[in-house]
Formats: sequence, structure tokens, C-alpha cells
Amino acid sequence: MRKKIVAGNWKMHKTIKEGIDLAEDCIKLAEKEKIKEVEIIFCTPFIHLRKVSKLTADFQNINTGAQNCHWEMQGAYTGETSCSMIESCGASYVIVGHSERRQYFNETHEQLAKKVDAVLKQNLTPIFCCGEPLEIREANTHIELIGKQIRESLFHLDKETISKVVIAYEPVWAIGTGKTASTEQAQEMHAFIRKTLAHQYDFETAESISILYGGSCKPSNSKELFSQPDVDGGLIGGAALMAEDFIAIAGSF
Ligand code: PGA
Repeated sequence: MRKKIVAGNWKMHKTIKEGIDLAEDCIKLAEKEKIKEVEIIFCTPFIHLRKVSKLTADFQNINTGAQNCHWEMQGAYTGETSCSMIESCGASYVIVGHSERRQYFNETHEQLAKKVDAVLKQNLTPIFCCGEPLEIREANTHIELIGKQIRESLFHLDKETISKVVIAYEPVWAIGTGKTASTEQAQEMHAFIRKTLAHQYDFETAESISILYGGSCKPSNSKELFSQPDVDGGLIGGAALMAEDFIAIAGSF
């Protein structure tokens, strides 16, 4: 059985106090709603990780993650954060290759492959993001692009190692726009990603990997999206900043 995951990507939001309040509210609600079968992850800014990880430490199905990392474990890289530092804060996940990092920070397939390796080396789980911008979708070349993103940053991994990766499909035109992919569009892309994994590795390996959907996922559409056979949860931006919405999404399986 694949893991069901709802991960909140807080992006560059919340002061320390606001972040702690949000995490506490989410944990309380998740307890009240008795959500146990879904893994809930708070992907916070780096500076929140230590404190929020302390809050989640007692809950087996609630964890934390970072939103980025450097591929080296240490060194003269002013302003960067390594996976060993992230791990030492108590986090278990790292988002790698979010479209905002690809777009605004020019992250390349090659750099992302190195980041994936660094995350895995530290025994953390990468949440590897892929997704196409609007013009690619309109040109109907999105399948090719997603295939390339997956191939170039993940296919150097062996079968055993790729099984440890979580993939998030996030169409860029749906991120923060209020425009969600239809359930058919999401399922089509998730099935394509799984087929690509099965082709490179094998069926069992592809079946074991959780593939999350991201892009304007909210309580009003999460149930339908998560009901699709290849959608194993969500990577949630805007709606993860409100405890009620985020936990309603986690409760919609
Ligand atoms: P959104 O962001 O839910 O606000 O669209 C998703 C993401 O960027 O991970």
C-alpha cells in the first residue's frame, strides 16, 4: 500500500510565532478529527524547522520538511542550508525542485539530481516536484517535459533508492492561481508518471511510489482529486496556511 500524504508548503510565510500557532492548531485539529491513516507534513521555512519538529515529535503520522537544500553537506556557500543541518532539526522530508525554485532561482535538472542525492544520503525523503508551465500545456508538450524532468533528475537512482522518493506533480498554471487541474488532467499525468517509472524500473517499484498533486488544492476539490487511483495525496500551498482548510484536506481521503 502506498503512503497517503498531505504536505503543506508554507513557502515564505509566517513569523516564528505565527508558524508555531499554525502547527499547533493543525495538530489539535488532526487529533480531534482522528486523522491517523494520512501522513501530515509541515514544510516550513528553515528557521521554523527546529521548533515545529519539536511539536510534531510525539505524533507518528505528523512530520516536518524543508522546502529546499544545498547538495553539499557543508562548505563555503553563504546563505545555504545543508541536509545534515535539516536532519539535525528533526525534519524528515525536503521539497526538491519546486517550480518556484526552478523559475526564480534557475535550478537545473542536474542540480536537482544532486539535491535528491544529498537528501537521500542524509536518510531524508525528497518530495521531488515536476510540472509544466502554461505555455507548455498549451503547446501540448507537457508529457514530454514531465518525462524529461523525471528522467534527468531521478533516473540515476537504482530501484531500491527511487522507492524512497515521493513525487509531486504540480502544473505551474495551477499554483496559487485558484485554477486547479481537473481530476482527469491530474489522473492522466499521475498515471503517466507511474507508467514512466514502471518502464524504467518495474511495476512493483512504480506502484510503491506516492505521487502527490499540487496546485490550488483546497477542501472543495481535494476529495475528488484524492479519489483518483494514481493520486496519493497533495502538496498544498495557500490552503496549508489555514489550519481548518489544511486539516480538512488531510481528512478528505
Ligand atoms: P498552491 O501551491 O496550493 O497555493 O497552489 C501549491 C504549491 O506550490 O506547492
